[in-house]
Amino acid sequence: MFASDPGRRARSRLSTKSASAKTSIARKAPTPRKPKSKHAAKLALVPAAAEMPDERGGLPPKIARYLATADLPSPCLVVDVDIVAHNFAELAASLPAARIFYAVKANPADEIIARLASMGSCFDTASMGEIDLCLRHGVPADRLSFGNTIKKERDIAEAFAKGVRMFAFDSDAELEKIARVAPASRVYVRVLMQCEGAEWPLSRKFGCEPDMAADLLERARDLGLDPYGVSFHVGSQQTDLTQYDKALEQTVTLFDEMTRRGINLRLVNMGGGFPSRYRTDVPSIAAYGEAIRNALGARFGASQPDVIVEPGRGIVGDAGVIQSEVVLVSQKGGNDTRRWVYLDVGKFHGLAETMDEAIKYRLTTSHDGDATSPVVLAGPTCDSADILYEKADYQLPVSLVSGDKVWILATGAYTTTYSAVAFNGFPPLASVCI
Ligand SMILES: Cc1ncc(COP(=O)(O)O)c(C=O)c1O
Repeated sequence: MFASDPGRRARSRLSTKSASAKTSIARKAPTPRKPKSKHAAKLALVPAAAEMPDERGGLPPKIARYLATADLPSPCLVVDVDIVAHNFAELAASLPAARIFYAVKANPADEIIARLASMGSCFDTASMGEIDLCLRHGVPADRLSFGNTIKKERDIAEAFAKGVRMFAFDSDAELEKIARVAPASRVYVRVLMQCEGAEWPLSRKFGCEPDMAADLLERARDLGLDPYGVSFHVGSQQTDLTQYDKALEQTVTLFDEMTRRGINLRLVNMGGGFPSRYRTDVPSIAAYGEAIRNALGARFGASQPDVIVEPGRGIVGDAGVIQSEVVLVSQKGGNDTRRWVYLDVGKFHGLAETMDEAIKYRLTTSHDGDATSPVVLAGPTCDSADILYEKADYQLPVSLVSGDKVWILATGAYTTTYSAVAFNGFPPLASVCI
């Protein structure tokens, strides 16, 4: 369904149908894995057939076939929901003892929520909008956590009334709100992280220092809440696998401190950080699973806590491609010999993570194979901040001209939701799930 233009829905459905009718997709059965827990048993039964992009990392095949025939607005994000399901199943298999709470913020498309819900996923939500979305898809409230540490009291009350019983906090004032309107709920404290090694580090906005976390957990108990555990996030697109162990080292110290204070914590919420494939290579999901399992084993030994992970990017990023169009190719004269390539998608159409050129997307064009030269890549709006890459080394074919298509790969996460409503009169990023 098009997120930005409901009138296109019928056309999109037709296009999807005709695209898939033209192709017979050879679906590979997933390798059966031995279930290691009740939760894993349920997840492992779910078929997760998907056609993944090849090693060279071009367009995912199903998306390529769809784009060949679909009549889409430009720009438009196309998400292959089978890849979403594949990524979910792969993570579940590599962390069989963990419960997966998909971070809805990464991409809240109905088709994604529905597919993950059908696979037994739980959901990390940041607002009443996300909670209601999950409930509309039939997700039981006990599979939701209200993971934002910054919540209005009336939203906490509404979530509680709708059955949500798990809340994040990192301050005394937030705890008081939760205690007032969501009595006896399970609460977990978010601890600050350095986020070293992450391509999209999270700031000091979320979490508190460990000493303060200990006092807050005690306060939670005194307020009649259930101090369930500790959460952290090692930074999004975290490719340094040792960061999970560093975070767990700190977490186990906090667990021990709380035992001394007579509080038995039971949960470690390890947040996200699982990667998409941008321009640099990333470890496999199996490697993440192994690093996390080893770290949990080393730090907690025989008394393993309940473990939650909250992947967003790692589930949906690689499943999406933005099809965009070149609006203008020009040059500035003087010493600047680079071409400026202006696309019809920019920072205000969902590519917000190009801020400070943090996330470097892979691009392909219909002229791939032709000679290339360096470019500055920018969006179409009148805002001078709407430049995607000026410092990073991007090269595009010299044959590229206005009207040519450019595909921006691995854009399934943190794009549609970052798109402005109508900046400069441009519609928000359209999106279709296939
Ligand atoms: C609380 C929380 N959980 C999970 C995520 C998802 O992280 P990622 O996309 O790195 O998996 C985020 C992202 O900001 C977050 O803030």
